[in-house]
Amino acid sequence: MFNVLRMKSSSNQKRVTPIHSTPSLTSVPQKLEQRSLAGLRRAARDCRACELWKNATQTVFGEGPLRAKIVFVGEQPGDQEDLAGHPFVGPAGKVLDEALHQAGIDRSEVYVTNVVKHFKWSPATRGKRRIHKKPRSSEINACRPWLDAELQSVKPEVLVCLGATAAQALLGRDFSVTRQRGQLVESTLAPKVVATVHPSSILRAPDSDARQAQMQEFVLDLTKIATLL
Ligand code: URA
Repeated sequence: MFNVLRMKSSSNQKRVTPIHSTPSLTSVPQKLEQRSLAGLRRAARDCRACELWKNATQTVFGEGPLRAKIVFVGEQPGDQEDLAGHPFVGPAGKVLDEALHQAGIDRSEVYVTNVVKHFKWSPATRGKRRIHKKPRSSEINACRPWLDAELQSVKPEVLVCLGATAAQALLGRDFSVTRQRGQLVESTLAPKVVATVHPSSILRAPDSDARQAQMQEFVLDLTKIATLL
């Protein structure tokens, strides 16, 4: 998975560079696909495949039933998820919960996870707040074996990428959530794959009218996703 090669040409010389930089696999055990979800979660607690574990409280693994038909993939745990050890339990999680409810999707029946499983942050210039930092592609690649193993265990019918980080990590760098949200995408990751906005984008809306409109669009995307089953 990490040795996919792409040819790059410079002047008349050809160079071969890996698409994914090979992560240190010292702490991502081999044969992850043979483990149960509980076994994966246990093994991921000690993951040291990138540096993010150093500043995080704990690994935040995916959660939901093994037989979930829908898997939602976000970017990375936030401040509250890092402290609680559960995905999507902070402000963005509340937006996701409300949108799922309005779309008639029971959160307890879906599997929710992230492309990166440690909180990446930097200290606020003033105060004690921990400011979310976007993960680098090397960090996303280092974490990827866990997501692949989750998908192999759960085998969802529908995979939903929440936001650009997840969508571009899983569907390609050129994927545009703005242009392609709600559209089915050809992928080997699941029979039906689709992307929509990240719920935190709704929290960043400039005013309450915009927030309401964006929430409506998000609910509409999720309502359509529910009909894919
Ligand atoms: N944002 C994410 O992408 N994932 C979480 O778990 C929480 C917030």
